[in-house]
Amino acid sequence: SPQTCGDPSDAVPFYLVALPGQAFYYTALASDVNSLINPPFSYSFIGTAARVFTTQELSTVPFFHVRSGSVLGPLHSDNLYTTSTTERDSALVSGYVDTGIAGYIYPSQICGSVPFYRLFTTTATVTEHFYTINATYRATLVASGAWTDEGIAGYVLDFNVCA
Ligand SMILES: *[C@@H]1O[C@H](CO)[C@@H](O)[C@H](O)[C@H]1NC(C)=O
Repeated sequence: SPQTCGDPSDAVPFYLVALPGQAFYYTALASDVNSLINPPFSYSFIGTAARVFTTQELSTVPFFHVRSGSVLGPLHSDNLYTTSTTERDSALVSGYVDTGIAGYIYPSQICGSVPFYRLFTTTATVTEHFYTINATYRATLVASGAWTDEGIAGYVLDFNVCA
């Protein structure tokens, strides 16, 4: 049967800002980027990780965002993005804060979407998730031994509109 797809022209950049080595924060909102890259947070703007929808389009599901810590932008805050309400809810039980819906993505590889790979690292001082559509970069991070492959978070559109 034909795929029912969101309108790709509605997709927007899913920006990545970071405190390098400490926190990775993804957002579809330019206003979030603006507040995070300025004091007191002073994140670095890394770039566009993917494209996502900001409203629920055909065949898409919510990409929930929860984070550790109660103040926006603290060092060592883990930002977790998941399509699973079960995983979101267990993170909330363990003390994460509900940040709402970061965007809408596909739950399977349809409509020209690509895997959004999920990785995880934890050390004495840092617990972080990282997401990328770049399979080569994912392999590099896993090979470094510092990051664990956590599979595919969902399916997003490439940040390169011409791809
Ligand atoms: C993917 O990651 C590799 C390894 O870091 C890098 O060399 C390459 O330029 C990346 N590709 C894109 C499209 O960003």
